[in-house]
Amino acid sequence: MVCMEPTSPDPLLRPLKLGEISAPNRVFLAPLTRSRATDPAGVPTPLMAKYYAQRASAGLIVSEATNISELARGYAWTPGIYTPEQIAGWRVVTDAVHAAGGRIVCQLWHTGRVSHDSLHPGSAPVSSSAARSDQCQAFIKVDGQGQRVAASPPRAITAEEISSTVEQYGMAAENALEAGFDGVEIHGANGYLLQQFITPNVNDRTDAYGGDVNNRVRFTLNAVDSVIDRIGPGRVGLRISPLFPFNGIADPDPGPAHRLIATEMSDRNLAYLHIADTATMASNSTSLMPEILAVMQNSASLPVVLNGAYDADRARADIASGAADAIAFGRAFLANPDLPRRLADGLSLNKPDPRTFYGGDDLGYTDYPFWQDE
Ligand SMILES: Cc1cc2nc3c(=O)[nH]c(=O)nc-3n(C[C@H](O)[C@H](O)[C@H](O)COP(=O)(O)O)c2cc1C
Repeated sequence: MVCMEPTSPDPLLRPLKLGEISAPNRVFLAPLTRSRATDPAGVPTPLMAKYYAQRASAGLIVSEATNISELARGYAWTPGIYTPEQIAGWRVVTDAVHAAGGRIVCQLWHTGRVSHDSLHPGSAPVSSSAARSDQCQAFIKVDGQGQRVAASPPRAITAEEISSTVEQYGMAAENALEAGFDGVEIHGANGYLLQQFITPNVNDRTDAYGGDVNNRVRFTLNAVDSVIDRIGPGRVGLRISPLFPFNGIADPDPGPAHRLIATEMSDRNLAYLHIADTATMASNSTSLMPEILAVMQNSASLPVVLNGAYDADRARADIASGAADAIAFGRAFLANPDLPRRLADGLSLNKPDPRTFYGGDDLGYTDYPFWQDE
């Protein structure tokens, strides 16, 4: 049985305070795009409520990446948090999670140049610069079917548009609380818009948002501050991926920018910093977490969530050593709705099926079995 006493000898089961959010354990659900919202309206469905409620035993659920505007969209069937219908759809999800005893934050997303014209007719994707990358692929609907396609050429976002996008982050956070979320996680990882500003091989701007490290992190800090203005810092997390190698991101020296972000977040008393080793998801390759932690140099003095190909033993070790306060599990939680219990009790795990990761129905979504007691 999962034992949730504060004195639990299992580091995974110790409660954790993240700002104003109280997590009863340290096994978190990592943000996972599952592409099962309506399209193009981006409204969450009752099936999504079932999926998240099944995983309510997580110390904290981070929702799938959720678009803050139409232009933010890079993938069909992903949800948004910028229309009344989307807010109402999410309300059904958050109510179901809360009824099942869980907590859930909304991951706020802008894909930037990892997008396609057809997802927001009338505007090309935006980025820090007009640089395109052959690595960037969008996911669009063709004759009702999902299809991966090369991302459309982006245009450099103007300073005025940066201001309005910063406002959209704040508005999305307010909408998230209205939808019943316990907070938000700003997506500054995986080569999407904010990391397209952080990274010098993408960002060639000469204005206040490009050039030195202070300028390259400015958009991220402005987005965070816009969210804090609306909902305060205690319900806000930020996700970063300092060694992310895809979507055309190739930062020869990611340390200064990511350490600056970590200290700025600590100064603002953010609820948590989420550091992801997302490269592991391509191949289940060896963890880069030791290298990432070396890059970060203990610069964060706020609760830290680590993620990337963790198993129970590595998770316990990193919490026990103080490297992490909590661990987010992606694919393992996707396939095991009762993952905290399974890890705590050393039970075997269902295997995730990548064929049903993105899009579809309940198959490979809400039908992974819970552990059956004899
Ligand atoms: C199907 C799938 C969807 C994902 N969607 C997101 C997402 O929406 N936001 C995000 O920050 N990371 C996303 N990721 C990355 C995961 O959060 C996580 O970093 C990655 O899977 C590595 O962790 P794991 O080894 O525990 O699965 C996704 C990964 C997978 C497999």
